[in-house]
Amino acid sequence: MCGIIGITGRDDAVEGIVAGLKRLEYRGYDSAGAVIPDGQQLRAVKRAGKLEEFVHALEGQPMASTCGIGHTRWATHGAPTDRNAHPHLDPTGRVAVVHNGIIENYQLLKAELGDVRFASDTDTEVVAYHVARELDALDTPDLAEAVRRTVRRLKGAFALCFVAIDDPETIVVAKKEAPLIVAHADGVGYCASDVAALIAHTRDVAALLDGQVAVIRPDGLEITDVDGNPAQPHEYTVHWDLEAAEKQGYDSFMLKEIFEQPQAVHDTLLDRHTASEPGAAPALHLDELHIDERELARIDKVFILACGTSLHAGMVGKLAIEHWAGIPVDVEVASEFRYRDPIVDAHTLVIAISQSGETVDTIAAASHARDQRAPVLAICNVVGSTLAREADGVLYTHAGPEVGVAATKTFVTQIVGCLLTGLYLSQVRGRMFATETADILSRLQQMPAAIEQVLELDGEIRELAERYKDTDYTMFIGRHAGLPIAMEGALKLKEISYLHAEAFPAGEMKHGPIALIESGSLVVALAPGGHVFPKMVSNIQEVRARGASVLAIGTDGSAADLKEHADHVLTLPEPTHELATTVLSTVPLQLFAYHVATLRGEDVDKPRNLAKTVTVE
Ligand code: F6R
Repeated sequence: MCGIIGITGRDDAVEGIVAGLKRLEYRGYDSAGAVIPDGQQLRAVKRAGKLEEFVHALEGQPMASTCGIGHTRWATHGAPTDRNAHPHLDPTGRVAVVHNGIIENYQLLKAELGDVRFASDTDTEVVAYHVARELDALDTPDLAEAVRRTVRRLKGAFALCFVAIDDPETIVVAKKEAPLIVAHADGVGYCASDVAALIAHTRDVAALLDGQVAVIRPDGLEITDVDGNPAQPHEYTVHWDLEAAEKQGYDSFMLKEIFEQPQAVHDTLLDRHTASEPGAAPALHLDELHIDERELARIDKVFILACGTSLHAGMVGKLAIEHWAGIPVDVEVASEFRYRDPIVDAHTLVIAISQSGETVDTIAAASHARDQRAPVLAICNVVGSTLAREADGVLYTHAGPEVGVAATKTFVTQIVGCLLTGLYLSQVRGRMFATETADILSRLQQMPAAIEQVLELDGEIRELAERYKDTDYTMFIGRHAGLPIAMEGALKLKEISYLHAEAFPAGEMKHGPIALIESGSLVVALAPGGHVFPKMVSNIQEVRARGASVLAIGTDGSAADLKEHADHVLTLPEPTHELATTVLSTVPLQLFAYHVATLRGEDVDKPRNLAKTVTVE
């Protein structure tokens, strides 16, 4: 989604803006632009298309300035064209704005301005007009006050960033329901929509809270609420560095992140299981949880809310919690939850899963549940993100920064987070002996080594991708823990290769989807060993009898049987626990999607129409 960067107090502000926008590219965008105060005017450059188009347009422009704001736009209102790209200026060219979010009452705000011709189709441009009007109404020009007066009237979600010609070294930002980070280091003020754009300059940052307005100058930051009262943002230190966000020799971030999965899973499991005091039996500790154990012991229902890939992790979470903790769990698409009447009360635990912690659908669903007194536990990868701050407790996945738009390493760590949550709920409710929990945990600790083994299948998977890269339709089937992974496999393939892919519970095939199978169809069957294996074999036979080629994902124990029924079998090491298979069987599907997409010449890190952080509803 849209990316914002603002810099003031640096001789090479424009270069800094371009570098910052590059770091924000992974969020997804379709145009880019920047504005700098230059003498008596605001000079804006913007272009539809990739960042290179914008950088090309900058060449030859007199853009020397110590201050400026830049933007990558992900179109919502108006097509991705030059004229709709940000920044937008008021008609006199006095105020410029860039925006992430949606101004819901923009039509009303436009109508108030009377018969004015707008230069774009966006919901954003009108905000610059209103700020300019407020500036005119003030006795002495004060951009921050004009912004505060304007944002008090805005409805919707926004991270807004302004410069004005009256005060060319000052940037003013305002935030509601869209992330905005500010920082000050070595005489330079910064703002950005995420820390990726700032870590080259500083690790000490502050996330603005909803309703806060920040004035950013070379000599410091000033943060207020919308009425001008001093306000405190959420300050924190970023613990990952620039190197972690670089490609490190891989062709793409996605491939690098797939290969980082052993480490990511290892880090997410680290230090969760220790004795609280010498001599005591080791117990599972989720220190950052901050939800009282007695409260958790009283829970009689769990809702897991998430979107996309995170939802698939939540489906594994349901199996874990029901199996180990014996609590009924519903898993629901976050964007649906708050528009019905879910039965939620103080005895319902809501688990909101989000890599970014900024997905507006998930944040809104969690806050809807909190309004009904349900405790909210976030499973989240980004420290200090909105969801993490607003939840009652957080279980951080330690996947490190994920730059590729398609979630990979964060998915497997979300599964680990869900397994840990299931075990923890079981522990606080006294459902298992400490030794049983310890045994399962020690078996989960073997996952990183097992993932390493699965990654060795890369060459074999590339050959399969070569063979099937032009298959128009791929169906993924699975049962029990295989179903969420089948769904994730289909999502990965479609989002980066743009080929049709769907997933079904294998038992549902005969109720309709099997009609799609014909000679030349590809069916990917999740068939590790376990209690549903014989049923999977029957389902594989059914699709094979109708002409489909079958690629089966099996385990050491099941592979021999599968080889009789499937065209290809990818063999995983025997899982240390049935639910841990989900982590292992995800990896070949990620690699298959990756190779199909790259062999088709697609940009896997920035798939079309998609954004890494989805900050609009
Ligand atoms: C798919 C993908 C998305 C995200 C979804 C939720 O590869 O990345 O489906 O999983 O947009 O994002 P988070 O987890 O940040 O809430």
